[in-house]
Amino acid sequence: MQDSDCVEFLQWALPRLHRRWPGFRKVRAQVCKRIDRHCKALGLAGPRAYRDYLEQHPAEWEALDRLCPITISSFYRDKAVFDFLGTALLPQLARDAHQHAVRDLRALSLGCASGEEPYTLKLAWHFHVAPVHREISLHIIATDVLPEMLERTRQACYSSGSLKRLPEAWRAQAFEPAAGGYCLRTEYRQGIEFVQQDVRTALPDGRFSLILCRNLVFTYFDEGTQRQILARLLARLSPGGALVIGRREILPSGTAELTPWPGAERLGIYRRD
Ligand SMILES: C[S@@+](CC[C@H](N)C(=O)[O-])C[C@H]1O[C@@H](n2cnc3c(N)ncnc32)[C@H](O)[C@@H]1O
Repeated sequence: MQDSDCVEFLQWALPRLHRRWPGFRKVRAQVCKRIDRHCKALGLAGPRAYRDYLEQHPAEWEALDRLCPITISSFYRDKAVFDFLGTALLPQLARDAHQHAVRDLRALSLGCASGEEPYTLKLAWHFHVAPVHREISLHIIATDVLPEMLERTRQACYSSGSLKRLPEAWRAQAFEPAAGGYCLRTEYRQGIEFVQQDVRTALPDGRFSLILCRNLVFTYFDEGTQRQILARLLARLSPGGALVIGRREILPSGTAELTPWPGAERLGIYRRD
């Protein structure tokens, strides 16, 4: 399949799925490859024939939607953000919890891919906060729409490239070498619950002190969908809690309930007032 054919197809199809072409522009190869395979399986010549097919078979849009998730992730993705989480934000949330005699802090990681983000959060808690606040535990719920991603979280084995930003001392302590990379030791997988969910239609129950919604909603979905999801996220975020979005992402305008977290104005970290 020609790249230009795929681009033309995506520019036509993505808005119809309430998705944003600019979010896909640089990472489209993953989706183009899936569409190519899917066209072959349907016996279609390429994206132009697939477009006709979609117009004749409305139910096919659901199949196309399932081809769209971008699954790129890595541990400690964006050093400045995770440095801040470990040294300032998590300790602050722990102090607030201590002050209010709360023993269980709840965090949510949406679009968790193969577990890189929630496991990084767990490690940041373990190495920065747990030694100071033994009385408080962190419970993380992590969701993803793709069952194959959740299966990988259970194996918790990663290439060395995926771990390259993780502080070396953490890697040495928390991972054991395995064929082709490293596997997270079992004790560092505790306290994380993985759930298959589509963020557009479902969120875990209850309130959270910390929600990570990074490199998903505010990159790949259109503004209307972003606003709907954001309203539901705000209903799940405790007052004084933090919403973390991707560093290059922008919230829809007019989100009065959120202010940039002091000291993290350029990191995509917001406080719910
Ligand atoms: C680009 S990755 C980002 C992973 C991680 N949050 C990070 O920043 O490194 C996006 C993840 O969101 C998942 N995803 C895509 N659409 C989703 C949806 N509608 N609901 C939940 N997860 C979704 C993908 O399967 C993928 O694992």
